[in-house]
Amino acid sequence: MTSIRIENLTRTFGAVRAVDDISLVIEHGELFTLLGPSGCGKTTLLRMIAGFVDVESGSISFNDQRIDRLPAHRRDTGMVFQNYAIFPNHTVAENVAYGLKARKVPLAEIQSRVDKALERVRLEGYGPRSPHQLSGGQLQRVAIARALVIEPAVLLFDEPLSNLDAQLRTEMRIEVRQLQQALGLTAIYVTHDQEEALAISDRIAVLRHGKIEQVDTPERIYRMPQTAFVAEFLGSTNMVPGIARAFDGRDTHVAAAGTEFTVRGEIARPGASVLLSVRPEALRLGDGSGGALVQARLALREFLGPMQRLHATLPDGTQIRISALGGQVFDGSPGAPLALSYDPAQITAFPAS
Ligand SMILES: Nc1ncnc2c1ncn2[C@@H]1O[C@H](COP(=O)(O)OP(=O)(O)OP(=O)(O)O)[C@@H](O)[C@H]1O
Ligand SMILES: [Mg+2]
Repeated sequence: MTSIRIENLTRTFGAVRAVDDISLVIEHGELFTLLGPSGCGKTTLLRMIAGFVDVESGSISFNDQRIDRLPAHRRDTGMVFQNYAIFPNHTVAENVAYGLKARKVPLAEIQSRVDKALERVRLEGYGPRSPHQLSGGQLQRVAIARALVIEPAVLLFDEPLSNLDAQLRTEMRIEVRQLQQALGLTAIYVTHDQEEALAISDRIAVLRHGKIEQVDTPERIYRMPQTAFVAEFLGSTNMVPGIARAFDGRDTHVAAAGTEFTVRGEIARPGASVLLSVRPEALRLGDGSGGALVQARLALREFLGPMQRLHATLPDGTQIRISALGGQVFDGSPGAPLALSYDPAQITAFPAS
């Protein structure tokens, strides 16, 4: 049972605040993801937890015990790296055994633990092989076995799947998730792939410039982004600037893109500038059933197999995207008028800066 408490953690490199006063609590058994664009500090934070990067100020505790001054090998963490970090001239078994040898575990025990770890990642019998005989996905499994074999309290993953092709990535992320749940381990998972983060996490922290923008469950972070940055980083969205006009007791009416949008709740005072996030899947073709309506014109239609993506123009020329499921047949040509209905509760508004 290991929970992780991070308090006011900071690390600078010259003028760059790579990790800037971050505080977080990660519960036992959680798969907690650090998500954010390149350079936002994900790897630095993970390496501080692992003990590979020194803490400048702040603290890291496992179950209320400070660990930030312990050497890496005494922190009870197993780490899986993006580039696997497999020794090419050693067998698979020797690679997996590495952490156990370093901890002076007796030889007989090493063998049985290595076999068990390889079995867990579905590589039974691969021990005697050389790493160059393995595929990318198999190598990544060896790296996971090597992290698991020491039976760490905390598993740390730094973009473990980013060297794999798209299909293997989606398969492997399920394996990672199932393994973590089966073993009941606390895990911190770094990725800049928003779909991967949404698919496997219990909670996600979105990072930007070394700071946390939002920590929440995947559903909440997608549906209720607290900042425009989070709304844009998670999934694709249409950002439409506007001016709040009036609150009618239930909805706020916003003048935007040469038309009007209706947003649930009192989102801003009349006259205030706002930024609306309208998800492509929140817009439906046709006047629907009682929702709000906006008029647009078709610009371009993309057929994507299970769905279509429509590009449309709002009255002032603003381009928006609409996702329509394949079942909703639509074969209009460019210029065709589109009535788009939506639920005012599905539009998120942010103060325009
Ligand atoms: N050892 C270092 N020396 C100097 N600057 C560093 C060092 N490590 C990281 N940085 C800087 O700190 C910032 C955060 O880097 P970090 O590697 O943590 O980002 P990241 O979120 O993991 O990015 P990516 O998605 O590209 O892996 C970057 O500006 C980076 O250049
Ligand atoms: Mg990184």
